[in-house]
Amino acid sequence: MISEIKSKKDFIQYFFGKGILIEPDALQGIDETSIVFEDLAFFLREKSNAIKQEDVKQFLAQNQEKDQLQVSADPDKYPVKIIHNYVDEKKKRTAKDFVAYYNNRYKALSKILRLRSEFINLTSINKIGQDANRSFDQISVIGMIYVISETKKGHFILEVEDNTGKIKVLLSNKREELIKLGKELVVDEVIGITGGYNKDIIFANKIIIPDVPMNKELKKAPDETYAVFLSDLHVGSKKFMYEQFAKFIKWLNGELGNENQRNIAKNIGYIIVAGDIVEGVGIQPRQEEVLEIKDITEQYNKCAELFSQIPKHIKIILSPGNHDPPRLAEPQPVLSKEYAKALWRMSNTVMLTSPGIVNIHSSENFPGFDVLVYHGNSLFYYVDKVVRLREAGGVDKIDVTLRYLLQKRHLAPAHTSTLFIPDSRYDPLVIEKVPDFFVVGHVHKAAASNYRSTTLICGSCWDGVSEYALKHGSHPEPARAIIVNLQTRQLNIMKF
Ligand SMILES: [Fe+2]
Ligand SMILES: [Fe+2]
Repeated sequence: MISEIKSKKDFIQYFFGKGILIEPDALQGIDETSIVFEDLAFFLREKSNAIKQEDVKQFLAQNQEKDQLQVSADPDKYPVKIIHNYVDEKKKRTAKDFVAYYNNRYKALSKILRLRSEFINLTSINKIGQDANRSFDQISVIGMIYVISETKKGHFILEVEDNTGKIKVLLSNKREELIKLGKELVVDEVIGITGGYNKDIIFANKIIIPDVPMNKELKKAPDETYAVFLSDLHVGSKKFMYEQFAKFIKWLNGELGNENQRNIAKNIGYIIVAGDIVEGVGIQPRQEEVLEIKDITEQYNKCAELFSQIPKHIKIILSPGNHDPPRLAEPQPVLSKEYAKALWRMSNTVMLTSPGIVNIHSSENFPGFDVLVYHGNSLFYYVDKVVRLREAGGVDKIDVTLRYLLQKRHLAPAHTSTLFIPDSRYDPLVIEKVPDFFVVGHVHKAAASNYRSTTLICGSCWDGVSEYALKHGSHPEPARAIIVNLQTRQLNIMKF
């Protein structure tokens, strides 16, 4: 049966059984892990002669169109445009890809850094110290940090590199502001350094991080519309909070709340869910013990059943988390078309990768809001490593960490902070364009604040308090929705 086709092998067997030949090059370019074989078989079900590469190409083109249609369908009051969804680089990874990946990261971040005005005599590392007489003039370099060490006396020594060479940088213990910044630096991030030098070392006067422009204001929509931010539903878990979620849905339908709350519900255009849509299967040891629904497809089916009670005019933007298949490594692909078919089939869902960027609420006279959605697999690392973030409240005040990452313009500057697949084309974790909203989940506690022109948001969760969260020092506050008035940019956390 077509519905049983899950792999290339099944596909070949199915048509072989029907006596239909598949030409040798026909399936080129569709990788083994892709889940399109069932759909492809359905597309080719009427074929009575050999399957050719042309047939497959036709299917792929149509499939791509469908993906785009899914987003542009229903061009109504609440438009959503996908600005960036990650597309896998279809090739085997080699050491060269890592080099290319870091080169691209360096290029992207140094481009952002160059917009800063603090650089003096910006130069490349190999040119430093070429003219001995000129040492201790002020120079600037942009480098990627590959070693950070602290001396017994409290100096910091960084080793940084650009594509021309490496050099040491001293942050003197006499410079309080430099040491403060030094403590927040992580390996692999790209920074600017200004200071005097001799041929082996730069004595830093200033460390420059990319940051976001100061003078941009919060963008405001021309009409009263609301966006709702959720995350970490964990549907399928025994702890999923049906009762509270039912209340949330009731409120969306105008059946719950005071007059003001009902008015807000009437004007909601968008719901953005930042990952961990389902609890998943086999994610953690002994996970079956916490599962109410043991089958992954059934978990998504349940989720679709709940979402189908949300008014159809509301766009539901879904991004994956570490509990959603098929993979943990970032960038995480869109929700599986195989398991999450019920969600894909809904007319008002939009699928994002993690990270991914959508633009919402644009109109003829309004550019809309860019929403960067990232589940947040890297977040715990920074809370653990950077004292200031921990002291500011750690996972309970994750918006402080979001500001930190936004200032670094990278979702996971230290390479060990998340599992990622190096892409030789570009670094998908660089925050190239300043988003209007930077949205995460993963820590199970709602947080929201503004930093310059960006609203930082972390969704809450809908699966009660898990041991996992407690182990990470988090104090989850489930069943919250973050409501943003797009006209005023006022933030509100509603408890259900
Ligand atoms: Fe979660
Ligand atoms: Fe998560």
